[in-house]
Amino acid sequence: VKRLAILASGRGSNALALIRACQSGQVPAQVALVMSDRPQAGVLALAAEMGVPSALVAATDYPDKGSHERALAAQLQAYQIDVLALAGYRRLLTPFLVGFLYDPQLGQSRILNIHPADTRQFQGLGGYAWALSQGLQQTAVTVHYVDEGMDTGKILLQRPLEIGPAESLESLEQRGLHLEHQMYPQALQVFIEQWEAVCAAS
Ligand code: GRF
Repeated sequence: VKRLAILASGRGSNALALIRACQSGQVPAQVALVMSDRPQAGVLALAAEMGVPSALVAATDYPDKGSHERALAAQLQAYQIDVLALAGYRRLLTPFLVGFLYDPQLGQSRILNIHPADTRQFQGLGGYAWALSQGLQQTAVTVHYVDEGMDTGKILLQRPLEIGPAESLESLEQRGLHLEHQMYPQALQVFIEQWEAVCAAS
């Protein structure tokens, strides 16, 4: 069973979906740790409710990004984490943390992220609002490998999300999040299969 850590800055609905999928046995992984960079993040309370160990690694407790990331890496090491899932983590990773979980056999870092748009079309915050502002009839949800760029890593799983005529942002966000919660556990499963395939081949 792979050991998963989740890193989130906010409410944590994707974290909850991942925890549920692992606890129910849908995905052969254990959420061994939830981390947040923000003391007030809802994800910390959720982790406690779900019986998952959590760690607050507050960015404001460290003098710079490098020392904050070293503290995150120390937690990954202490909990023997195999794979890290970003779930609403509102910071870019530096090459240090990307390199910390880099897997030469995969040719990727074992870090995933979920993004509420097609990462080739839109990067950064507010993907659903962007799709509406563009008048799109269809947008997407993407799970991708993480590198040091802003939503630039290799795509692991992507699904389309239709946008209704005159659909509100609230409605699109709600339907999008529902899709995210289905997709992130599925993407984790795909990741684990890819990882095991490259391990078996070597
Ligand atoms: C989600 O829309 C996710 O795609 C984006 O940030 C949001 C996090 O929501 N990266 P939550 O904290 O998982 O509820």
